[in-house]
Order: sequence, then C-alpha cells, then structure tokens
Amino acid sequence: MDDLKAKYLDLIANASDEAAIEEVRLAAVGKKGEVSLKMRELGKMTPEERQVAGPALNALKDEINAALTAKKTALADAALEERLKSEWLDVTLPSRHARQGTVHPISQVTEEVMAIFADMGFTVAEGPQIESDWYNFDALNIPSHHSARAEMDTFYMKTPEGSNDAPPVLRTHTSPVQIRALEKNGAPIRVIAPGRVYRADYDQTHTPMFNQVEGLAIGKDISMANLKWVLEEFLSAFFGKRVKTRFRASHFPFTEPSAEVDVQCKWEDGKVTVGEGDDWLEILGSGMVHPKVLEAAGVDPNEGQGFAFGIGIDRIAMLKYGIPDLRAFFDSDLRWLRHYGFSALDVPTLHGGLSR
Ligand code: DAH
Repeated sequence: MDDLKAKYLDLIANASDEAAIEEVRLAAVGKKGEVSLKMRELGKMTPEERQVAGPALNALKDEINAALTAKKTALADAALEERLKSEWLDVTLPSRHARQGTVHPISQVTEEVMAIFADMGFTVAEGPQIESDWYNFDALNIPSHHSARAEMDTFYMKTPEGSNDAPPVLRTHTSPVQIRALEKNGAPIRVIAPGRVYRADYDQTHTPMFNQVEGLAIGKDISMANLKWVLEEFLSAFFGKRVKTRFRASHFPFTEPSAEVDVQCKWEDGKVTVGEGDDWLEILGSGMVHPKVLEAAGVDPNEGQGFAFGIGIDRIAMLKYGIPDLRAFFDSDLRWLRHYGFSALDVPTLHGGLSR
C-alpha cells in the first residue's frame, strides 16, 4: 500500500500539465485504476482482512485525490502567472493620440441660428439646391426681363430633353423656400431655411457656393415692428450682446417695403467688432412679403401678411469668430479646420444674449 502511495504521489508531483494529471488520475483512481481494482478485491477478503484493508484503501484514495486537486491548482496558478508576465502592460506609457475632427464653423453657426430661432417659435424648412426658374425667380416677383436676374450671376443647368421649360438653376438664394414652405403648410407660418446657394462670383468676399438663412413669418397682422423685434433679438442672442440695428430703405422684388439692416460696429486695426462703436455694417436684407409673392404661393394677400429676411451665414460666422477670408471656408484645409473648427460638445447656447 505504501508502495502505491509513493508511486502515485511521485507521478503527480512530476506531472507537467492537465493531460498528464488526468492520465495519473485514470491510472490510480479511475474506473480501471490500480486503487479502484484493489477496492474491488475487498469483497473476496475475510472480514478481518477487510477491516484493515478497507479504511487504508479509502485513505489512500482520498490522499491521491487531494494531491491531484492540489497539483491542478498549482498548475493553473503557474499558467496564470506565465500569462500575466507575457501580457504585462506599462500603464505609464503615454497613450497613442486619436485625432478628432472638428465641427466646421458653418455647421456650428447654422446650429446656433436654428437654436435661437427655435426659441422664438421658428421651425426649419428645406428646399432643393437645383431649383426651377419659377421658384427661384418668377414666384418671387422676379420676371424674366428683371435686372435682378442678371445681377445674381446664375448658374444654369441643362433643360431636360424634349422640355420647353426654362432651364433649372442652382438656386441663387434661399428665398424660393418661402414659396415651397407656404405651398406645403399654408399660413400662418414661422420658418427659417438655412442652406447652400450658388452664384458665379469669386474674390475675397465671394465664393461660387455660399450659405444663407431665409426667414419667413406670415400671419393675420404680422408687421414691420415684429420684423424689427425678431431681428434685434436674433442678432443680440447671436453676438452675445445687445446689438443696435439700423433699418435702411432698400428694394427687393419680393418685399414691399424692403429694408437692409445694418448692425452697429467698430473698426480697429483693420478688424471689425459687432455691437460696439458707431460705425454701421450691412448684414441682411428684409421686408414685408410682396402680395404677388403671397399669391404665387397660394396665400390670399387679404388674409395674410408678414415679413421675410435673408442673412449670409458665412458673413455672420466671419464676424462672430473673427475669420478673415471667406474662401478659406471652402478650401478643406485641415490646419484651418483645426484652428477655426468647434468641438462637437460646443452645443449652441444663447450666450446670455437675450438679457438686456
Ligand atoms: N434673397 C436675397 C438675396 O439673396 C436676400 C433677401 C432679401 C431675402 C430680402 C429676403 C428678403 O427674404 O426679404 O440677396
């Protein structure tokens, strides 16, 4: 019995992996193992012999099982130790930098504009960038002979084969969305329409593609006074301080009367700051929507009236964030974007601009 014990404890001690342990287990205490076979022989013994051999065999079996378990645990511990060594990680190493993109100033400013107007009850409307001659011009009271067409440096598209219609255009302003929104929703309505517009023009302050936001409010008795309040409220919220405005009589075919709006500003070392000083800077066009435009959009001018305005988004972005050259907006220069771009977490706020 002591031989058996010595033999198996030795084998267990020398087993180098799980498979070897299992082999020893089967050879000793498995169904056909040496110890198990010995136990089977107990039945053939005399009661006296059995009284001695029985407990001894049981003790031997227990001891072997205990040794097997202990060895298994030891092997597992050693394996884990090995793994921990090879998978060791130096947490003091500087991490590899994951480059993050930035939000383009145009996207940021568009979000800011939408947030401010949303607070005044304006929803967002959209229209196509390839627009029909009707929506871009005629419906806005710009007939074909009108000089405004020539002034707008329009990009014309090809007329579809077999069509007698005027060629479609790349919209020259966001104003056609006024017509589309009214056709879709009727009056009363309060919408803004931000988006891209196109004109064949290129210098430091003009790019062939740029961004505008259109505003439209039609109701029973919406007046020029409402227009003035909405614009002043918007400009103050946007620039983060009370901004004085000046309404200058002007002319647009789609509004009557029309006004260009200047904001108070200060020039210093070739740089302009809005909301201070006593210079003026033209910032947007606006007016009371022309009855012919309302009619074109299916609204009876005796039933509804209101105002519209159009603002250059790029322009107010340059003013607010001190960006000097318009063309850089659309150059896709990553260094420029990293410098002037915004973090995705810069959620638009009113910058406290609504407090007087
Ligand atoms: N559509 C004009 C432009 O692009 C801007 C404009 C002026 C829009 C007056 C308006 C407005 O809605 O009332 O130059």
